[in-house]
Amino acid sequence: MTSQTSILYFILFQLTIIIVTQPCHRFLTHAAGGRWQFLQGNIGIPALHMQLLNNDRVIIFDRTDFGKSNLSLPDGKCRNDKVDCTAHSVEYDVLSNRIRPLTVQTNVWCSAGVVTSDGSLTQAGGFNDGERRVRIFKPCESTTDDCDWVEVENGLAARRWYTTNHILPDGRQIVIGGRGQFNYEFLPKTGAPNLYNLPFLAQTNDPGTENNLYPFVFLIGDGNLFIFANNRAILFDYSNNKVVKTYPTMPGGDPRCHPSTGSAVLLPLKNLHAPSVEAEVLVCGGAPKGSFALAKNGTFVGALDTCGRIKITDPNPQWVMETMPQARVMSDMSLLPNGNVLIINGGAAGTASWELGRNPVLKPLLYRPNDKVGSRFELQNPATIPRMYHSTSILLRDGRVLVGGSNPHEKYKFKGVLYPTELSLEAFSPAYLDPENSSLRPKIVFPSSQVKLKYKQNLVVRFTVAGTVALDKVSVTMVAPSFTTHSFSMNQRLLVLGSEVTSLGKNTYTVQVTIPGSGNLAPPGYYLLFVVHQDIPSEGIWVNLG
Ligand SMILES: *[C@@H]1O[C@H](CO)[C@@H](O)[C@H](O)[C@H]1NC(C)=O
Ligand SMILES: *[C@@H]1O[C@H](CO)[C@@H](O)[C@H](O)[C@H]1NC(C)=O
Ligand SMILES: *[C@@H]1O[C@H](CO)[C@@H](O)[C@H](O)[C@H]1NC(C)=O
Repeated sequence: MTSQTSILYFILFQLTIIIVTQPCHRFLTHAAGGRWQFLQGNIGIPALHMQLLNNDRVIIFDRTDFGKSNLSLPDGKCRNDKVDCTAHSVEYDVLSNRIRPLTVQTNVWCSAGVVTSDGSLTQAGGFNDGERRVRIFKPCESTTDDCDWVEVENGLAARRWYTTNHILPDGRQIVIGGRGQFNYEFLPKTGAPNLYNLPFLAQTNDPGTENNLYPFVFLIGDGNLFIFANNRAILFDYSNNKVVKTYPTMPGGDPRCHPSTGSAVLLPLKNLHAPSVEAEVLVCGGAPKGSFALAKNGTFVGALDTCGRIKITDPNPQWVMETMPQARVMSDMSLLPNGNVLIINGGAAGTASWELGRNPVLKPLLYRPNDKVGSRFELQNPATIPRMYHSTSILLRDGRVLVGGSNPHEKYKFKGVLYPTELSLEAFSPAYLDPENSSLRPKIVFPSSQVKLKYKQNLVVRFTVAGTVALDKVSVTMVAPSFTTHSFSMNQRLLVLGSEVTSLGKNTYTVQVTIPGSGNLAPPGYYLLFVVHQDIPSEGIWVNLG
């Protein structure tokens, strides 16, 4: 061998090592505008519903009548029907990137959930044998604990399919609507009659199409619930069954709720100690009127490219319309720790429901609520996997967004279809996680995770930053992890706590904040707390407010 050929062989050898030591499957793609990371090729089920718990594990489930899933139940276990011995729910451990099969006995399809103040996921409703069930998942306390679902028969007063649930300040939850249900109820169920009419849900129900399922519900500082269905909204006093305010129909009048599925967030709540705390809602995407019927006939109408934003606490609230760079239906909206909104997944034509979506939108979209109208949107690096009907996204404690699911078919279909059933999990890392930003990233050193907090309490958070700190560009935020399904993230809220920064020297700082004063602003339970510096969030810590 000449010395030149031996150098060539050496280079080839090195290249081989680099290639074989990369994790299998797809690589991290990287450019400005976020990175995609492939986490799991096969978690056994499409991630149709997702909820992060305070042990950094995500509870995922699909439905029990898709057929046999791609993950067996352990130790030869079967569901009570003794026919299907596969899992339709899994626990994903974020820290170890591992999956554990869980057992749901009854059909959890198109259901809803809330994490109660003790950290348990209470899931309600579903289809057929699951329509009145309540199921509780208490997070595992140790890595050897094999915690699983516990089901309560007749936990609900009415059958609930496609409902929205929301945690309340007193720790109960409200269950709103669902197919054919123009009413609401509370959980846990009491002996008293527990069913209250909500005519707004009948008024927003389009014959033959509905367009008001999974309504967008947000609890605001005055204790009322904002409820958006189809193309309009009310402010609702749930204790007295009274409509407090009726909002104007969104300009254009097109539907934004299932199956013309748009998405919505309550924008970050700020100035939390003001006598009345302002609240703004952003609703994005959806499908033009008539799209569902046309899609059923094989005509896939382009989705809506507009968002409506409204200050719901204004005396005379009005929608302000904004235009997204791309049209979207069935997208998810996740609040990021810095208060920006990530709009992700979905398609650009058709509607939700079996086989009715088209033209996957692969590029996530960042929305910066504090920028000027016209410069708030920024397209992000595209995904490679279409995530259509029955896909989800949720924020993780480290600031990544977990993305999974997609199955627009009545059964599992892995071949010969436009959008095969997707069993993979990915993470999208917004640009704040780019290595270029690491010298600006805060690291929380005190308090430690799982700290208990009281309402109105003063909290001193100590953090370090390797590089130079702009003292006026630090804030502390608190995010409630959401229950996400069908493009809506129930209970998702972000609170911007006050900020008063002091430097202690040696790259260490403290920031003093006051915890919100009421359960209307922050219902009791687990939140992720972040220190944000120049829009770059620390890793979160879990705090338990109660
Ligand atoms: C289903 O699981 C098997 C075995 O774990 C795997 O080989 C196969 O690729 C999986 N199918 C899909 C579609 O992921
Ligand atoms: C769909 O097709 C049916 C049968 O041809 C027709 O009656 C109906 O009007 C069509 N609907 C729409 C929205 O085009
Ligand atoms: C982080 O770094 C990237 C450079 O890759 C930059 O484009 C981005 O805006 C930075 N900051 C935030 C808050 O994302």
